Amino acid sequence: MASFALFERQWTTYRTVVSHDLMEHRALAGATAAALDRWLAARPAPAPSPALVDLGCGDLAQLAPLLRRLPLASYTGVDLAAAVLPLAEKALGSVAYPCRWQEGDLLSWIQEQGPPIDILHSAFAVHHLNDDAKATFLQAARRRIAGDGLLLLADVFREPGEALAAYLERYCQRMRGWQVLNPEQQVQVIEHVSQYDQPADREAIAAAARAAGWHWQWVWQGSHSAEALAVLTPA
Ligand SMILES: C[S@@+](CC[C@H](N)C(=O)[O-])C[C@H]1O[C@@H](n2cnc3c(N)ncnc32)[C@H](O)[C@@H]1O
Repeated sequence: MASFALFERQWTTYRTVVSHDLMEHRALAGATAAALDRWLAARPAPAPSPALVDLGCGDLAQLAPLLRRLPLASYTGVDLAAAVLPLAEKALGSVAYPCRWQEGDLLSWIQEQGPPIDILHSAFAVHHLNDDAKATFLQAARRRIAGDGLLLLADVFREPGEALAAYLERYCQRMRGWQVLNPEQQVQVIEHVSQYDQPADREAIAAAARAAGWHWQWVWQGSHSAEALAVLTPA
């Protein structure tokens, strides 16, 4: 299992990236809220409160305001980096539903047996898996999702047919323009992305999802041909 120093020991660097909106987390949070609100509004009343599982939850700095207002039955945050879980718990604060905080690998977690999941959310974590593992993730998530559930997959993606090396080159070029990071932080993010990021080809992952029994819909695209949000529902 890869060990991500950026998330285990250099979280402040990622925090600076998010707080300066360098990966467009603000627009993504708005698109995520809109997708969830649409899904909640479309449920036939009376529907039981949904359980939400967040794989690679991080510190919840962006998602906490949305989570606080959702009528959830429970929230489960899973992350490989144990250090972020107390930050996430603090960011969320006091909520009306029970929360669980689990240190663990998202791919192992989703392959476990368990009750059907109403809402599965994962933001900027699945691109750390290789393509075979991404397909395994989509298959396992399909088995675990409730019949009327949804998977919100926010991540970075390659353009159709774009080679990984070409993607990494343009993303590293973009990061060299992130002047709010000090030189040491710039090295950290560039090293992390170069070493660990394996974004899916956006058409290939949609095809893998369809093969796994999902309906795939893009609902938001960032302005850099990388960050995007897809909503997946059982086909
Ligand atoms: C880029 S951060 C995203 C955090 C948060 N979801 C967000 O959007 O700001 C990626 C997070 O995924 C976690 N992560 C990466 N690979 C993982 C894995 N295989 N299993 C669980 N968590 C993982 C990292 O520890 C980190 O907290």
